[in-house]
Amino acid sequence: MNLLQYRFGLSRRRLFQFAGAAAAGGFALTLDEKPALAQAVFAAYPFQLGVAAGDPAADGFVIWTRLAPRPLDRDRGMPAQAVEVTWEVASDPGFRTVLQTGKALARPELGHSVHVEVAGLSPATAYFYRFLAGREESARGRVKTLPAAGAAVPAARFGVAGCQHYEQGSYVAHRRLSEESLDFIFFYGDYIYEGRSARTRNAAGGPFDNPRQHLGDEIYSLDDYRQRYSQYRMDADLQAAHASTGWFVVWDDHEIDNNWAADLDQDGSPPALFNLRRQAAAQAFYEFMPLRLSSLPVGPSLQLYRRATFGDLMSLQFLDTRQYRSDQPCGDKWGVCGDLDRPEAEMMGLRQEKWLYEGLSASKSRWNVLAQQIMVMDLDRDPGPQYAANIDSWGGYRTPRARLLKALKDRRISNPVILTGDEHQNYAGEVFLDGRSPEGPPIAAEFVTTSISSGGDGMDQRPDMVKIQAVNPMLRFNNAQRGYVICDVTPDRWITSFKVMDRISDRGGSISVRARAEVAAGSSRVGMS
Ligand SMILES: [Fe+2]
Repeated sequence: MNLLQYRFGLSRRRLFQFAGAAAAGGFALTLDEKPALAQAVFAAYPFQLGVAAGDPAADGFVIWTRLAPRPLDRDRGMPAQAVEVTWEVASDPGFRTVLQTGKALARPELGHSVHVEVAGLSPATAYFYRFLAGREESARGRVKTLPAAGAAVPAARFGVAGCQHYEQGSYVAHRRLSEESLDFIFFYGDYIYEGRSARTRNAAGGPFDNPRQHLGDEIYSLDDYRQRYSQYRMDADLQAAHASTGWFVVWDDHEIDNNWAADLDQDGSPPALFNLRRQAAAQAFYEFMPLRLSSLPVGPSLQLYRRATFGDLMSLQFLDTRQYRSDQPCGDKWGVCGDLDRPEAEMMGLRQEKWLYEGLSASKSRWNVLAQQIMVMDLDRDPGPQYAANIDSWGGYRTPRARLLKALKDRRISNPVILTGDEHQNYAGEVFLDGRSPEGPPIAAEFVTTSISSGGDGMDQRPDMVKIQAVNPMLRFNNAQRGYVICDVTPDRWITSFKVMDRISDRGGSISVRARAEVAAGSSRVGMS
C-alpha cells in the first residue's frame, strides 16, 4: 500500500483515477457527486486573493488560487458546490504561447482553493501562469523551474522571508522582495498570527499603536483560520511577492499557536482538544499555501519536511521543528535551568532526523542548506555571568542539537548553511557544538532573517543586544530592523545580503542593504562587509 492508498483507503483502480486527476490538476469527480459548476457567474471578482506558485522542481511546480468573491465572509460568496477553473501555463507573460492548460475543481471542502501540480516542463526556465473561471481572469504569476539535479549551475539567487504580523506593519518589504528577480523564496513561517491586539511592544521597548487590526479575536475554528489567511492574502504587496516567483513554505508556531510543541499548546489545553485546533489550522494552512498533494493534512498532521535540489550547486532540506518536538524546558521561560541537556528531548522527531541525515549523506551538492525556523547558534542571552538560552530554539534542546551538529561534522557534509527565522532580528554567525567553549573551526554558518513586519519599525541594534553580542564571539552581526535576506550563491562563495526597511509603520519606507555576510566554500567562517 503506498502513501495515497494508506491515506485515503483507496483501491488500486480508484487510486489510479485519483492520482491521474491530481496530476492533471485537481481531484477526480465521481458520478454520485453534485455536478461541478462549469460556467460560474460571480457576485464580485473571484480572484481577490491572488495567485501563488510553490515547491518548484526541475520539471514543474504547484500553482495555486482560491475563488472568493467575498473573501472575508463565512461562505466567501461561493456556492456550496465545486466550481470548474481553467489553468494555463505559458512561456511568455502575454500568454501568446500557452504550453499547458487544463481544468481543476475548486472544491467546497477546501474552501474553493485550487492546487495544480504542473509537470513535464523544462528545467531552469521561467514560466507564467493564470487561472480563468466564468468570465473572470486571475492575476498572472511567474515561477521558475529548478535546474536539473546534478547539472552544472553557476549561480543561484533566492530570497528568505517570514514573520509577517499583519497588525504590526505594512508589507512594503514584500513589494521590494517581489522586485528582486529571484529563483525562489524560502518562507520560514509565521505566515499569520493567531491572536489580536491593539498595541505592540517594539524593539525599543515602548508600546506603539498597531497600524492595522486583525478581524476577530484569537482564532480556533477552521472558519476563523480561513478568515485570518484571507485578510492577510488580500494585501496587494504580499500578493505581489507570491506572483513574482515560486515559494518553498514551512510553518513555525503562529500558524497554530505561540510556542506549540506537537500536541501541546502554550495554555495547557488538553492535547486531544489542541489537536482539533491543529486540524483546523493545518487544513487552512494547506488551503492557502502552494503545497503539493503530499502535504494534504491527515487529522492534525501535515507532511511539511521535504527537500529540493538546485543543480549541482545546492541542496535544500526544509525542516519542520514544531510538529514532532518535545515540550520546551524551563517552564517555557527564557533563562537558566538544568533541563537544557535533558537526554530525551526531541526537536525533529527521530523519523525526520533519520530522513535528514540520510539525505545529507546522499547529497552531492556543493552547498547543503538547512532551511528551517529556529536558531541553531546557542547564544548566551544573558550579558551577565549566567548562561541563558532561548528555550524555544535549538538552544533549549541541546541533545538533538548535538546530534544534528555531529551528523554535519562526522558525515563531512559539504558546506552546511543554516537559514533561520523566528527571532524578529537579523543575525549572522558561526555554529559550534558548544558556543560557550568553541573548539576548532565552526561546523556551519547560520543566517537568521528578521521579520517582514512583526515587531514594528525596529532599530539598528537593541541596547540589550549590544551587550549580548559582546559575550557571544560567534555572533558576527545583529540588527533589529524589518526586511528580508537575499542569498547569492556560486560554487566558490555564498553571500547573504541583509536588506532592511527604514520604517514599515506606513507604506512610505524604503529598503537598503544593511550588511553583507560572506562564506567561502570549504570554510564555515562568516565574514562581514
Ligand atoms: Fe514571528
